[in-house]
Amino acid sequence: MSVYLGLDIGTSGTKVLAISETGKILSSATEEYPCYAPRPLWSEQNPDDWWNAVVKGVRIARERGGFRASDVKGIGLSGQMHGSVFLDAANNVIRPAILWNDQRTAKECAEIESAAGGRAALIGMVANPAMTGFTAPKILWLRNNEPDNFDRVAKVLLPKDEIRRRLTGEFATEVSDASGTLLLDVVRRRWSSELLGKLQLDDSLLPTVYESEDVTGKLTQAAADALGLTTDCVVVGGAGDCAAGAIGNGICRPGALSTSLGTSGVAFVHSDEVKVDPQGRVHTFCHAVRGKWHMMGVTLSAAGSLQWFRNALCVELHRQAKAEGRDVYDMLVDEARQTPTLADGLFFLPYLSGERTPHADPNARGCFIGLTLAHGRGHMARAIMEGVCYSLREAIDIFRGMGVPVSEIRASGGGAKSPFWRQIQSDVFNCEVATLNSEEGPAFGVALLAAVGGGEYSNIVEACDATISRVSELQPNAETAKEYDRAFPIYCALYRALKEQFGAIASL
Ligand code: XUL
Repeated sequence: MSVYLGLDIGTSGTKVLAISETGKILSSATEEYPCYAPRPLWSEQNPDDWWNAVVKGVRIARERGGFRASDVKGIGLSGQMHGSVFLDAANNVIRPAILWNDQRTAKECAEIESAAGGRAALIGMVANPAMTGFTAPKILWLRNNEPDNFDRVAKVLLPKDEIRRRLTGEFATEVSDASGTLLLDVVRRRWSSELLGKLQLDDSLLPTVYESEDVTGKLTQAAADALGLTTDCVVVGGAGDCAAGAIGNGICRPGALSTSLGTSGVAFVHSDEVKVDPQGRVHTFCHAVRGKWHMMGVTLSAAGSLQWFRNALCVELHRQAKAEGRDVYDMLVDEARQTPTLADGLFFLPYLSGERTPHADPNARGCFIGLTLAHGRGHMARAIMEGVCYSLREAIDIFRGMGVPVSEIRASGGGAKSPFWRQIQSDVFNCEVATLNSEEGPAFGVALLAAVGGGEYSNIVEACDATISRVSELQPNAETAKEYDRAFPIYCALYRALKEQFGAIASL
């Protein structure tokens, strides 16, 4: 038997998934760790916590799956994107890693844009504008604010690539995650020496870039001992969690788009050609499919908005659900279902953590707009679900406007478990929405990449075709879709109307 492991170094924890060579799920384990916010807008983690979670998780997954060390032929790595691990020349971690959801770098984003010769020039070099969460502004932040630490930096690695270093001893990354550093020439799939030069950053700071299914090394003896595996086990490039999740959803051909409703929400579309939004509203990154790209929009509070609503405003319902042994989300969805489409004119802007796509505005705030005495909890729950879908539709409409075909949507993430929320997606996007046999997310995608690296499949498209299938489809309701078409421009106009006030609120 051959076993392949997918390791997803997430923000709340690390998931280890073991699959067979045919893609059958054998076992999994999740180990959690804390995230620190030492100052407002900061978000940091300790790379040792990731490593300890990997070691423990792999051992537990092996025990649960009942396979032998020598069965494990390959590992694929996925993880939270954009984070920065700063290493000194002796590979010591210099300071806590700065994460994707850290917002400290507004000044450095402006610095990058100006050094590049303007926003358009920057997009020309790396296909994307500077965003506070991306890696390059974090490197500049270190140079500007912690110069002693900066002077010690010998390498900067993404979270999953720091785990790779501890597994294989290699400094390596792959194209999908490297795209989110803002230092990759996304069109040519190699570091942008042009931008590095303009930022006065030495390219020796960065690891070697591979394609996602390439083998980047084998386990060192020390890592094999720690994990209870062998030194024959290969480690493939893997992918950032968005591309890995999309691979796990079989998004590897033109026309295929996946949505994911987790804490944040992602709309992710495959593209055979590299297409860049000149306004930089959506990301254009290399895909984990060799020689292909993807476009992506991220809404920062998706299922996270409903979770906030449950925690902040549904305390009593939550208590009742616990007492009755029911799921509080099922109860909320039941109440939402009893309200009409458009929630009697109630809108929700899901900007509880600011917003990324399409506004890139850390000052944006969550809002209910249109409340009347007639509105109740069910209306509010519905408005949240509709608002999150409108937010993803903004990204999907940008893809369509760029000439990227969208013919099929595959829904994933916690929010996709609700058929009601999936139907809202189908009606708001006016497109069929399918669900799949695999629900294991990014860890499954990179376990498949590992199976390709291990020689089970000739490429990732073949691996997806062999292991992923649709299990349900929902069609849009033509009448409801028309209602959403009428409401969507109002949703879009609300941000424009409030943008200035969001800035004013932030400076209070
Ligand atoms: C993608 C992004 C998040 C992180 C966290 O651009 O910022 O999805 O990868 O998981």
